Amino acid sequence: MGLLEKIDKNKLPLHIAIIMDGNGRWAKKRGFLRIFGHENGVKAVRESCEACAELGVKYLTLYAFSTENWNRPQDEINALMTLLVKTIKAETETLIKNNIRLKTIGDFEKLPKNCQNELNKLIKITENNTRTTLILALSYSSKWDIVNSVKKIAQLVKDGILEVEQINDETLSKELTTGPFPHPELLIRTSGEYRLSNFLLWELAYSEFYFTDTLWPDFNKNELYKAIINYQNRERRFGKTSEQL
Ligand code: IPE
Ligand code: IPE
Ligand code: MG
Repeated sequence: MGLLEKIDKNKLPLHIAIIMDGNGRWAKKRGFLRIFGHENGVKAVRESCEACAELGVKYLTLYAFSTENWNRPQDEINALMTLLVKTIKAETETLIKNNIRLKTIGDFEKLPKNCQNELNKLIKITENNTRTTLILALSYSSKWDIVNSVKKIAQLVKDGILEVEQINDETLSKELTTGPFPHPELLIRTSGEYRLSNFLLWELAYSEFYFTDTLWPDFNKNELYKAIINYQNRERRFGKTSEQL
């Protein structure tokens, strides 16, 4: 039986989030510059999107560039932003063909203007697609998003629109850039690193974590199937006992 047949279609996660890590090491192992790893990571992005659309996973969030990544060497940042624009243009057809809607989370205004323009174009073109929502985390960090949300809530209180007593879990969730989306049931991180690197701290409060040593450019549909099968074999208790479920 192939991996795909082992997936229970009735127990799919609604939302999968992935920390795509290991591009630099993948390239270095082969004696190439780091950017070669990023270029080779694009195929893994396409495969993950297609696999989610084919399976019917409704949301896929990909951590593509963190707030902290602005501290990388300027030439790597430039190369990543150029690659982003190139990929958006090249993958437009893939998104349309697979009925995928594009969204972003993070500090959009921090991105170079040409990136913003290309992203906005593709967001507009795909806005009525319904199969899967692809959410790119760009210039994203969870602490930034939470601080931003708190500021918006403070303003609502200051303007007399909201009472302090009314602030709850939902209020904070709603003001995050992740606000329109359900929280992920499954988080995947590639490349054998076991940390969140400032990703979805609030949204992953009760998610299942899956770590693999596979470097991002080697990630593919089968790797995603493995993660989903592993997830489907877990018992999610949400604080209750096994017997209560
Ligand atoms: C992930 O790969 C891609 C981004 C963070 C943009 P890395 O570039 O972090 O690759 P490693 O972790 O150095 O191998
Ligand atoms: C996390 O990867 C960010 C992205 C995948 C975009 P990093 O490679 O930047 O994370 P650290 O620095 O190793 O924690
Ligand atoms: Mg890394």
